[in-house]
Amino acid sequence: MATTSTSPKTDLVLSNIQGNIIGGFNKDFQDFVYLKFRSDAAGRAWLAKIADDDEVGIASSTADQVLKFNAQFKALAVELKDRFPSGKVKPENFIQAEWTSLSISFAGLKALGVQQGSLDAMPAEFAAGMKSRATVLNDQGDSDPLKWEAPFDGDVHALLLVAADDEAKLGARLANIRASNEYKAGVQELLPAPLAGRVRHDAGDAQIGHEHFGFKDGVSQPAIRGIDQPFDPIANPNQAQPGRDLLWGGLFVVGYATQDPTSDPLVDGPNPTPKNPIPAQPSWTADGSYLVFRKLAQNVAGFDAQVSAIAAERKWSEDLVGAKMVGRFKSGCPLETRKFQPGAGGPPLANIKDPGAWPAPTSAHPNPGPTPITLLADSDNLNLNFEFNDLDPVGAICPMSSHIRKVYPRDEVVLDASPEGIDNSESDTQTHRILRRGIPYGGSFNSAKGGGKDDPRGLIFQCYQSSIKFQFEFVQQSWVNEPNFPPHAVGGVPGEDPIIAQSDTGPFQFSPDDPTPTIVTHFVTTKGGEYFFTPSLSTLKELGAGQH
Ligand code: HEM
Repeated sequence: MATTSTSPKTDLVLSNIQGNIIGGFNKDFQDFVYLKFRSDAAGRAWLAKIADDDEVGIASSTADQVLKFNAQFKALAVELKDRFPSGKVKPENFIQAEWTSLSISFAGLKALGVQQGSLDAMPAEFAAGMKSRATVLNDQGDSDPLKWEAPFDGDVHALLLVAADDEAKLGARLANIRASNEYKAGVQELLPAPLAGRVRHDAGDAQIGHEHFGFKDGVSQPAIRGIDQPFDPIANPNQAQPGRDLLWGGLFVVGYATQDPTSDPLVDGPNPTPKNPIPAQPSWTADGSYLVFRKLAQNVAGFDAQVSAIAAERKWSEDLVGAKMVGRFKSGCPLETRKFQPGAGGPPLANIKDPGAWPAPTSAHPNPGPTPITLLADSDNLNLNFEFNDLDPVGAICPMSSHIRKVYPRDEVVLDASPEGIDNSESDTQTHRILRRGIPYGGSFNSAKGGGKDDPRGLIFQCYQSSIKFQFEFVQQSWVNEPNFPPHAVGGVPGEDPIIAQSDTGPFQFSPDDPTPTIVTHFVTTKGGEYFFTPSLSTLKELGAGQH
């Protein structure tokens, strides 16, 4: 991937990119602190401190360091699973890391006194802020910004994220950051306590990595060229694991080669040729990324009751109803990978239990094929290896508007064919991908330690991209909230995303045979959020030195 003066820049400078963008902190304990700069000079002085601080700063949390740690952690997890099949001995018992990240809103850049010319050059949606984009996102009803929680009044200047392997280490790192004179003089915390992102240990080992409705999260992420390696470099150099296309880093980091939305007729799959990015605007945004941060409350009791009611009405198992809505069973096993599942070939059996959750094949549930069924949930070589349009063009297996089909339609026909007759949908779809970095907040519903029906809980949704308009906003507006997407669905209106559509209720077509879509209630509500920019390490230092 050499770079010449005429070709777009492809090799990500990982030592200059913050580690939650590329790599991802992946820590079970994450605190989010909403900050306001006290003045431009004092704010910049703290930026200089947090950028370079040897112990707790951004310089020791860059993408190269996070990727290295994550690779070591993953290898150790595999080895420990082999040696201690109980799963009780975990990698974090042997290796730990704590990380820090800092992102700044448009209001924050203004408060730092960033030059007007620079501010004017930034993308309009970022400058407007999330609250002002309520019409685009359809944040209405209970999600209306007028009902948002403090401090999302458009005055959050920065978001500090601290991540660690346990509560004590997290507390110690945050205390260390707060102790500096520059912090005290430079920023004001907008809430009495940080927003606590916590993996759901309170609901037992089985829920670790699962969001509050109970579904495994963080299964499918875009693969990035130069970071993820092809699984079979000879037969398919353009895919990481089977089903996981390799994408250019410029889709997520400003200033690099990105995806071409038009297809290459000689290639089956997205266009692999790097496209010139929109130039970094302003130039100091290079090596940074735009962060969408949304606090999404989840009404678990309401969701569970709805799943039970639909299951009773349709005479389906609850596992099947949930999987039809999400596109994966709770274990993470994709509904679409029918060839390995019981009743292989046809639509899923009405009484199917989550196949990925079977402890081991039994006479009641024998392995239907050569693949151990539990691997469907756990193996990255199997659980990403499916498309929609090839084997299930009408949504008989996985509904056209199930959550994962809406937010990443894979080979779905999402556009009309071009005048040349070339179906460029898959290349176009890949330009709308996002890097998700969410973590749950709040105690688990009915967990061993309690967890009342109305206690606050949900997902701290975060995603990185180089364009909020063409990535997060496009997905939310044109796919998730749009009942007529995908445009070529057979058998009527495919419906809204049943998990995250931003309306109180909406149509959802469980099966192409349904005469009319079912009206489902949406149990996710926006409680607040903001658009941030996560600058490179060098830009943070320059801002700290009074530049820009
Ligand atoms: C409380 C809110 C949400 C819940 C409960 C939720 C749940 C899930 C689950 C269970 C998965 C499947 C596992 C995986 O592939 O990681 C998933 C995937 C995904 N979600 Fe969400 N999600 C939420 C919000 C959002 C939002 C707001 C967006 C963007 C607009 C989004 C975009 C995605 C994407 C892109 C995928 C991966 C699809 C794929 O690559 O197959 N999610 N989500």
